[in-house]
Amino acid sequence: MSRTFVMVKPDGVERGLVGRIVARFEEKGFTLVDAKLTRLDRKLAEIHYEHLNTKPFFGELVDFITSGPVFAMVLEGKDAIQNARSLIGATNPTEATPGTIRGDYAIDVSSNIVHGSDSDENAEREINLHFQ
Ligand code: RTP
Ligand code: MG
Repeated sequence: MSRTFVMVKPDGVERGLVGRIVARFEEKGFTLVDAKLTRLDRKLAEIHYEHLNTKPFFGELVDFITSGPVFAMVLEGKDAIQNARSLIGATNPTEATPGTIRGDYAIDVSSNIVHGSDSDENAEREINLHFQ
């Protein structure tokens, strides 16, 4: 068993998709171990996305993720990081297969509904960052 950090982004919360997204993870077999509706301040968002801080879209990414409430979760299950990433789908919804969350609910890479940790190390870092 391992744990991952998943967050419904402001576009998903605004569109009323939190319940459906949580259900997708539960149906897949994950256990919800912690969750909260919260809003990231700029400093927390910049730390969360610090691996992207040299990218040209970094400013817009931080503007977007701080633009409204997010629903942050800790999910537990077998191979949690990989299983969550495969359910979430490709970063760009254009490439995300239908049946994945991004494939079903998103159309634009800059507002792609949900975040999931990409490694064991980052899952631990993000859980500690958002659930102190
Ligand atoms: P996430 O962290 O949100 O789960 O997404 P990811 O691992 O699939 O992708 P990552 O490389 O970590 O990028 C984080 C978020 O940055 C936005 N992005 N925009 N305009 C662009 O080319 C571009 N590339 C990435 C996306 O919203 C992505 O989810
Ligand atoms: Mg990422």
